[in-house]
Amino acid sequence: MTVEESQKKRRFGRTLRELFQIAGLFLVPSRNRSNSLYSMLSTHNNLAEKSLYLNLGFWETATSYDEACQALAEKLGDLAGIAKDDLVLDCGFGFGDQDALWLKRHEPAKISALNITGSQVTLAKERFPDPRLDFIEGSATTLAFANDHFDKVLALESAFHFKTRDDFLKEALRVLKPGGCLAMADIVQARAPANLSERLAEYGGRALWQIPSGNLCEIPEYRKRLEQAGFVKISIEAIGDKVYKPFENFAQSRLHDPEVVARLNPLIRKMWSIPNSGALALEYVMVRAEKPS
Ligand SMILES: C[S@@+](CC[C@H](N)C(=O)[O-])C[C@H]1O[C@@H](n2cnc3c(N)ncnc32)[C@H](O)[C@@H]1O
Repeated sequence: MTVEESQKKRRFGRTLRELFQIAGLFLVPSRNRSNSLYSMLSTHNNLAEKSLYLNLGFWETATSYDEACQALAEKLGDLAGIAKDDLVLDCGFGFGDQDALWLKRHEPAKISALNITGSQVTLAKERFPDPRLDFIEGSATTLAFANDHFDKVLALESAFHFKTRDDFLKEALRVLKPGGCLAMADIVQARAPANLSERLAEYGGRALWQIPSGNLCEIPEYRKRLEQAGFVKISIEAIGDKVYKPFENFAQSRLHDPEVVARLNPLIRKMWSIPNSGALALEYVMVRAEKPS
């Protein structure tokens, strides 16, 4: 067998395995399987070229996916106001690009970074070996840290996965110092599904992307839950117009590139080719809130 044939065979095996894993996500959607989802997506089912970011990006001036993802990470780090010598907790860090970025831009004393996907934790440790970055495997809903410990808690496009986000909010409040800040780039509903086909699209989207049902709510309800958890000075900025459609346009422009065709699972490629922001009626928010002093 030639090298090319054996590569093709390996890729076929991987594709088949991933298709079964995707089917598994739909079987018991109430069980949170974010770690299976992200283990399956791995490094190859990704549109990035220079980084391994996994968010939808902030498309104000960006012309590539890498730039847009970094712009979103910068926007969140700035919103949190990460300061020199801060103790930072980052929940849901992907492959660690955002933590390396924030370390360089803001020089916090330490970033403790938590991720439920073991393979991402392993790779982040290899990619960014720095004593000020502590990559830990675990869930954002049960934080193994003391009360009043961190200056900042961040979640970059991850809190919508947490089972549940409300549990995370309680934990974030507990581990923040009085006056400390929580900052999230997060996904919310623009409006509730209006008919059966929208309800089905939402069900499918939630199953595939592993979003617990209670986590999808509109902005007023989102604000209420932050207040109920005990946060104050809450700001919520809707930026969906600079996220969903530009990401969709970019993804669709890349989907026929031979390199992307060879790398991406065909089902994931198909998924990116379906304009989804309309059907799912989603909004994208930048959120900042503080623990009372
Ligand atoms: C959409 S990705 C975003 C990754 C990264 N923040 C970025 O922007 O590239 C969501 C991340 O949240 C992580 N995640 C999901 N559920 C989690 C949980 N309960 N606790 C910690 N991390 C979680 C996933 O493993 C994944 O790394």
